[in-house]
Amino acid sequence: MGNTEKSWEKRLSGSVDELAVDFVESLSYDRRLYKYDIAGSIAHAEMLGAVKIITKAEAAEIKKGLLEIGESIAAGEFVFDVAQEDIHMAIESALVSKIGDAGRKLHTGRSRNDQVATDIRLWMRDEIELLLTRITQLQLAFVRLAAKYTDDIMPTYTHLQRAQPATVASYLLSFVEMLARDYSRLKDCRDRLNVSPLGSGAVAGSTLPLDREMTAKALGFKDITYNSIDAVSDRDFCAEFIFCCSLISSHLTRLAEDWILYTSAEFSFIRTDDAYCTSSSMMPQKRNPDMLELIRGKSGTVYGALVAMLTILKAQPSTYNRDLQEDKIHVFNAADYTDTCLQMTTAIVSHTTFNTRHIADGLDEGFLDATALAEYLVRKGVPFRQAHGIVGSLVAQCEEEGKKKLGELTIEQFTAACEKIEEDVYNTLDPTGVCRSYQSKGAAGPENARAQIAYWKDKLKSQ
Ligand code: ARG
Repeated sequence: MGNTEKSWEKRLSGSVDELAVDFVESLSYDRRLYKYDIAGSIAHAEMLGAVKIITKAEAAEIKKGLLEIGESIAAGEFVFDVAQEDIHMAIESALVSKIGDAGRKLHTGRSRNDQVATDIRLWMRDEIELLLTRITQLQLAFVRLAAKYTDDIMPTYTHLQRAQPATVASYLLSFVEMLARDYSRLKDCRDRLNVSPLGSGAVAGSTLPLDREMTAKALGFKDITYNSIDAVSDRDFCAEFIFCCSLISSHLTRLAEDWILYTSAEFSFIRTDDAYCTSSSMMPQKRNPDMLELIRGKSGTVYGALVAMLTILKAQPSTYNRDLQEDKIHVFNAADYTDTCLQMTTAIVSHTTFNTRHIADGLDEGFLDATALAEYLVRKGVPFRQAHGIVGSLVAQCEEEGKKKLGELTIEQFTAACEKIEEDVYNTLDPTGVCRSYQSKGAAGPENARAQIAYWKDKLKSQ
């Protein structure tokens, strides 16, 4: 199959430099769009038939031919020839070889510029659906893990210094929140891109009575674009899509970084499954968190795609320029990397346990209850700034006296620091007690964790 004759053969001399043939082609990567190109062409042909630009019989012939070409591509039987430049020309020329004259009418009133703009949107709509499912799966994995640890306490860190106590569940649920934003951002992106540029032609439209609403409806677009000059070169949605992927990657790197630290001997907070570790070719004891490191590292490719996309778009003269052909490389890369990283993260989260006993044994380190003590003083009527100072001095006193925790101070030492402190102070100290007494909405205590787990379980069912 195939026809190396170019549609512009009558215009150009026909001299060929193989270097240029390879340089200009996008078929090696845009063949991925074939299903969408065929769907777009069928919609276009049926519309041409409906408005009587071609006959209904010709439209039917085109449709049949295109469906057969689709099957042969799907079966891996189609012979791609880079001399055809891109998937649009490859399919059209195969159609002409197959059905002759009717095939030559398919390109009436359209250009590759509106074809490619349509195809990427169609592809991206599906890709976003896939990514939304992946996000939901990861959220579910986090919620399931969180449900096991609603009453286990761990330290939180700010500046990587011990801060306040939290339930392990609350920590895990923080990633569910990030992913919920990623989910809604991708949905917004899908909603904005879901308009049909098909029928914009090369740039300024067509003198033929194309029914653009009809093709838009056939392809499931919610509307058409209303300015052909913009429509042929609008790739805002590509940049937006890659940005969505970049933020997902960023969230995954934060988890990866945490867990790389948490698996170290210094933390020993978690154990990930052996399946997600590798060892060293030289050091026999090693158990390295390579998958997590790769999740962290692969974000570089996604961010790179974003910068590449923005740079491709920058200062292009109005309407289509061939620069835009490079868009797909970065959009595909961002999508593929994000997809595999989401899947790998889900697998890791589903096979990780928290070393709760070890974490509990270390909770006395770092004065995790200091903020709660300051708030105890607030409840006794001490202004917060003053309370902060009093507790700061008490922590310094503990350090001087080699006391590991505030609860080791005697009541005399407490009252010497502030006469408002009474025996009940000991009830507010210790990280587990602190966690249980969190009152504010969204705080990291067990009660809120349980409520959030119930909320997410319900929400994710219908997401
Ligand atoms: N392969 C091209 C792309 O991806 C299709 C559009 C080519 N249009 C043109 N006028 N040369 O952008």
